[in-house]
Amino acid sequence: MPNKKLNILFAAAEVVPFAKTGGLADVAGALPKAIRKLGHNIIVVMPRYYEIDTTQLEKLPAPLGVPMGVMGEFWAAVYSTTLPQSDVKIYFIDYEHYFGRRNLYEDDNGGYHDNDNRFVFFSKAALQLCKMLHFTPDIIHANDWHTAAMPLLSTTRFVHDFANAASVLTIHNLQHQGTFYKGIIDVLEVGWEHFNPHELESMDSVNLLKGGIATANAITTVSKKYAQEIQTSEFGFGLDHHIRAHNGKLFGILNGVDYDEWSPTTDTYIAQNYDINNMSGKKVCKKDLQKHFALPQRDDVVLIGFVGRLVEQKGIGLIAGVINGLLGHDIQVVMLGTGEQWAEDFFNEVAYNRENFALHVGYSNTLAHKIEAGCDMFLMPSLFEPCGLNQIYSLAYGTLPIVRATGGLDDTIVNFDTQHKHGNGFKFYDATQEALYYTVLWALNIYYKEKEAFKEMQKVAMQEHFSWEDSAKAYIDVYRFALNNKRNAL
Ligand code: ADP
Ligand code: GLC
Repeated sequence: MPNKKLNILFAAAEVVPFAKTGGLADVAGALPKAIRKLGHNIIVVMPRYYEIDTTQLEKLPAPLGVPMGVMGEFWAAVYSTTLPQSDVKIYFIDYEHYFGRRNLYEDDNGGYHDNDNRFVFFSKAALQLCKMLHFTPDIIHANDWHTAAMPLLSTTRFVHDFANAASVLTIHNLQHQGTFYKGIIDVLEVGWEHFNPHELESMDSVNLLKGGIATANAITTVSKKYAQEIQTSEFGFGLDHHIRAHNGKLFGILNGVDYDEWSPTTDTYIAQNYDINNMSGKKVCKKDLQKHFALPQRDDVVLIGFVGRLVEQKGIGLIAGVINGLLGHDIQVVMLGTGEQWAEDFFNEVAYNRENFALHVGYSNTLAHKIEAGCDMFLMPSLFEPCGLNQIYSLAYGTLPIVRATGGLDDTIVNFDTQHKHGNGFKFYDATQEALYYTVLWALNIYYKEKEAFKEMQKVAMQEHFSWEDSAKAYIDVYRFALNNKRNAL
């Protein structure tokens, strides 16, 4: 029945607007709504972290029992509400001992030592919840390593309840795989026969993502380019061979953008709204941003922004290598992010020494919006980037991205073509300081010397549209593929 409405369980470790450390939360907050708009039934499940205020949520009358193998049965409370501007139900698994902590995944000493138990617990809880709600999913959609145990759980420990459900695993980032001491098998209760190099085992440890890749009826990544890249040793983080073995069920689906949140015409965080026909508001935003960062308020200087986690993935090592050289030119640079200590220290020092560079260490949604709106260009020189959202947000604001041609950055940014004066950004290919440095200088040259071409690029950028509706339709096709795949395997 190709048009049958599907029941979907969507589980993620973070969901906007409730908890977010990165793009996974944006996707988990938007994709289910787009799927719902196509007429399917979807419920979302996430942990109830300490930061989530339960007073506005509805508490389910009965507690949820979660079997944890050798550790016994744990009991969780469950809260619920709907995703904003939708009727999509989201459920929060409330278990103080695991999730009542300051951060989602880590403290100052690194990842929480019991992340394996925390997310195996969450994965099992999401499945148990379906039973409690009498919700029979056709599709179990897991995201990243946190919930990657769900496909295998649904065909082993929970097989009786999910015999007809197919599973889909979305890889938002292959770097994080959930690798733990093998004793977790006795908590998972999937059977030690699955601890083998084709499923859960990686160098005598359990690798949850690896198990999910082996078992899910379909795998997706968040861009087509990244789907190719993860099959190579350069981007495979040791799993490229394993992924190649399963590439018949691998798909790349680009993320969309929530334009209710990211649009210069309606954005409530920015100094003045603007659109493609009247860009005067962008100048006001630029001035406002310069003021915010105590930079000289000049309209005639190029202003370049960066927003993101300060981790190697984002190319911060490359930026650190070229920043002082770049700041010798007529340029202003602003950065927003948190992450590795060396990077926070390094860029703080640059900010201290330079008049044309400013940094905000921290997480600020408001400032992220102001940077998208107020800058002329956006810097994203990632070493790898499964999809990347900020460069797509930048396009909407006419803030031209300067990116490394990898993953979703390569799929969304069209390099400026000097001959035909066309493109929506600037790309470089080698992950080297030289390539980054000269690409920024090239972009500066276009900004200062080819003003008409630059404006034309801004128009092209602002006309791009990355709709969640298109992505949701592609996910539905993958769901149907997964169901067929499951049937054929039976
Ligand atoms: P990733 O998920 O790898 O971090 P993405 O580009 O997919 O990268 O998504 C990052 C998301 O997190 C974007 O919505 C971005 O605006 C937001 N973000 C990252 N760091 C910060 C920060 N310091 N303050 C505000 N928003 C941030
Ligand atoms: C990950 C990736 C990022 C992607 C996001 C949402 O965090 O690093 O590129 O946009 O997930 O899919």
